[in-house]
Amino acid sequence: MEDSLRASVRGLELVDQARKRKGWNRQSAAWAQAALTSVASLKQFWRRERISRETFIRICEAVGLNSWQEIAADHFLEQPVVVDWGEAPEPIFFCGRHQELETLDRWIRGDGCKLVALLGMGGMGKTTLAVRLVQQLVGQKAEGEEDTGTRRQGDTETFEIQNSKFKIQNSPPTPFTHIIWRSLRNAPQLEALLTDLLRFFGGSKQVDSGVTDQDSAFLLSKLLTDLREYRCLVVLDNAESILVGEDFAGVGSYHSGYENYGELLRRIGEERHQSCLVLTSREQPREFNLLDGDRVRSLRLQGLPQEEGQKILERVGAFSTSVAECRVIVDHYAGNPLALKLAAAGIRDLLHGNVGEFLSLLQQGRLLFGDIRDLLERHFNPSLRS
Ligand SMILES: Nc1ncnc2c1ncn2[C@@H]1O[C@H](COP(=O)(O)OP(=O)(O)OP(=O)(O)O)[C@@H](O)[C@H]1O
Ligand SMILES: [Mg+2]
Repeated sequence: MEDSLRASVRGLELVDQARKRKGWNRQSAAWAQAALTSVASLKQFWRRERISRETFIRICEAVGLNSWQEIAADHFLEQPVVVDWGEAPEPIFFCGRHQELETLDRWIRGDGCKLVALLGMGGMGKTTLAVRLVQQLVGQKAEGEEDTGTRRQGDTETFEIQNSKFKIQNSPPTPFTHIIWRSLRNAPQLEALLTDLLRFFGGSKQVDSGVTDQDSAFLLSKLLTDLREYRCLVVLDNAESILVGEDFAGVGSYHSGYENYGELLRRIGEERHQSCLVLTSREQPREFNLLDGDRVRSLRLQGLPQEEGQKILERVGAFSTSVAECRVIVDHYAGNPLALKLAAAGIRDLLHGNVGEFLSLLQQGRLLFGDIRDLLERHFNPSLRS
């Protein structure tokens, strides 16, 4: 049967626990009714026979299991994941952030979070961490990463289709069927973004049926249908581009004309589906405070610890430092990876790698980019550099 699924042995154990919590027996008419199916199909499900994908998903959802991928047998072997990296940067070097990656993996893979924000000041590593998260979810290794032997195994052979953005991995260790990365840096109108996403999920089918001229409410409903049907990971980078700035309560509202992004977040956070939207932002969109429920979460990134900061300094600056010297620099820039990279490049190019001289200039307050705000301001605002 095409587009059909059958349960795994482990999957049936999970379903069994879930149906006990509901107080249903295995051939319960109430369960079949809640899943809009027949008792006969429910019996087939229990015999681990193939049934239609939609019925399979509804049977799982009726007992509160939204991650049907955890229940289906050989699902990942049958279903390749399609990844569109969009404008995502390809990090050359990645270090640290083990705890953050573990937390995000647990939230997304384990707890089925629907909406996750990575927050933090400019240069703190939000985009880099999001890239690493996606790489990890599709079983790719980052450069510089040591193989600890704990990574999930999967066939990570990657080949490209149509153009260089699309890659399909065979049997990856990911619960997702589709992964798409988009940057909001140029503040696209919501309609344009949704049309783009629908094109990705539906291929030419949805575009042919005329989604391009529709309003955002219509497009959003179509997107939610896709997010229910497939298990998608959508990453929206640079979400601060559509936000005005945080108010006194640390909550970001939208630039005029972008308020409908709030509706996107609200519907993804509230409605029933099996996908996840991850966004990176310097500010927290207000929906993260307004939406209830434990499947909407945010992670505020702090600076890197001293040893990771030292790796960045030494790699970028091509000099070696003592632990004590390094601690002063990393503390001074609050472990902000971008600030550390800029400082390291400054030491290398302007001070010929003389870290001692840098530290004494720092102490005397004689550096142009003395504090982290100066440094980042100059980086993000080229007119200040003269
Ligand atoms: N864990 C890390 N290991 C190595 N380099 C890192 C790490 N995190 C960030 N960097 C480097 O620091 C710089 C800034 O990181 P990134 O662009 O991810 O920050 P950001 O928080 O997304 O900033 P912005 O708010 O401007 O978008 C990049 O050059 C990146 O390569
Ligand atoms: Mg970024």
